[in-house]
Amino acid sequence: MDLQPSDLTASAEFQALQRHASQASHWHMAQLFAQDPERFARFSLEAAGLFLDYSKNRIEPQTLTLLLALARARGVEARRDAMFGGQRVNTTEHRAALHTALRAPRAARIQLDRRDISAEVHAVLERLYTFAKRVRDGAWLGYSGRPITDIVHIGIGGSFLGPKMVCQALRPLAHPRLRLHFVSNVDAHDLAATLAQVSPATTLFVIASKTFTTLETMMNARSARAWFLQSATAADLPRHFVAASSNLPAVQSFGIDPDNTFPLQDWVGGRYSIWSAIGLPVVLAIGPEYFAHFLAGAHAMDRHFQNAPLAANMPVLLALVGIWNRNFIGCSSLSIAPYHQNLQYFPAYLQQLEMESNGKRVTQDGQPLGVASCPALWGDVGTNGQHAYFQLLHQGSDITPVDFIAALRPAPGFQEHQATLLANCFAQSEALMRGKSAEQVQAEMQAQGMAPAEIAELAPHRAFPGNRPSNTLLMEALTPATLGALIALYEHKVLVQGTVWGINSFDQWGVELGKLLAGSIETELRAGASSQQHDSSTSGLIARTRA
Ligand code: F6P
Repeated sequence: MDLQPSDLTASAEFQALQRHASQASHWHMAQLFAQDPERFARFSLEAAGLFLDYSKNRIEPQTLTLLLALARARGVEARRDAMFGGQRVNTTEHRAALHTALRAPRAARIQLDRRDISAEVHAVLERLYTFAKRVRDGAWLGYSGRPITDIVHIGIGGSFLGPKMVCQALRPLAHPRLRLHFVSNVDAHDLAATLAQVSPATTLFVIASKTFTTLETMMNARSARAWFLQSATAADLPRHFVAASSNLPAVQSFGIDPDNTFPLQDWVGGRYSIWSAIGLPVVLAIGPEYFAHFLAGAHAMDRHFQNAPLAANMPVLLALVGIWNRNFIGCSSLSIAPYHQNLQYFPAYLQQLEMESNGKRVTQDGQPLGVASCPALWGDVGTNGQHAYFQLLHQGSDITPVDFIAALRPAPGFQEHQATLLANCFAQSEALMRGKSAEQVQAEMQAQGMAPAEIAELAPHRAFPGNRPSNTLLMEALTPATLGALIALYEHKVLVQGTVWGINSFDQWGVELGKLLAGSIETELRAGASSQQHDSSTSGLIARTRA
């Protein structure tokens, strides 16, 4: 990308950080730890049931002072308050971004266009809770008079990743009779494999789409309906198809009863929608009481973000350390490593949250950013990742920061695993930070009695540079409340980073071009007609498919 100077890079605060970064390039974290016995206490904090250790970053107290000055100069506090205050912070779509209102208590009186929306939010929640209770209690019956046993959630992007991730994360709390299935891909292998596991008479389909126009979701929903109607009648549809959407007319014309449609407000972005009606599978799985804890955990993080001074504010610090790594150390990706099997889908969830929000190259007013924005996010659960790609994290040519996430409470029944799991988690961040010099490696091999020629040959391969950044997030246990706080933490991190970069974090125009082209290519594939408008590669692929 062609980077131009921008307001950000021209600012005194950014330039001060650039000068500071040239000194920091000589630091090694192992020395920083040796020099400062207070480093862990200095660079860690607790909020809303989460503990963040960010001491294993290439920072000194002055680094934070400069980063905080940048955050203030870029208006982080004002933008945070504008978001919570219901202003239209999503400027290109002229919308508010009030996902925080979905988890605020009923008495919060959240204003949007001088209207208190709290009652509306809680009315939807009450409807979700009433419906979920009937399904969970077995009072909601399928067409054969039997209770629901399987829930097939059909949605994609934000209408899929959140429900799937949270249901997996909280699976120990799931209702024992209800099996949750998630279908997102337009590749019919996804739907077919799911339908093969369920029976129409005891299955509830949740069609989740904010717009109710998304190609994949609508195609899967139509196919699921056709499959259902092979065994049942149209009169049975209301007991088996419900929807979460903001497009109520489209839901109705699909054939879903308005009484079974749970509305989603237009000021809730797709990737911020797990707190809304899109969270219906979570309410069905864990029940209203635990869902309320989930909302309360996120709200606790909201209050912390709103009220804590920037220097002691977890989302702000997580965001600023990320900006430091991205813009001043030059790290182009971020690896997410949950050391908790139930957080298996958290990296994928964060991919959409961060990359769809801040994967942008122009500022809110359409100017080139002038700096690199969102890093690429990727990852998998520990310890699995250690045996796959951690080689690159330790010795690869790029520096990839890692967010380690772990819960202290062991999984029931196999308590002896927990010390091994946590030891691995902490060992990885220590190894990334400390490294192992060629001299240490040579001394070890000498002590083992190896021949000098072999030592010389192997030492470069066995040395670790270290000085590789990571954060560690700990929680007592992975509960609805701590999970809510964890998601809200990253949501607010995104806002802070987007604000520093000058980005509108709430739109996603980048997904449009591919959708448009897919429409015309699909017509060509179906009709067998060819268009002259493609390049030779695309035309060749279309021709080969038709042949
Ligand atoms: O194509 C991207 C996107 O618009 C996401 O932002 C959104 O979460 C997803 O598609 C699904 O949209 P919908 O809920 O309207 O089906």
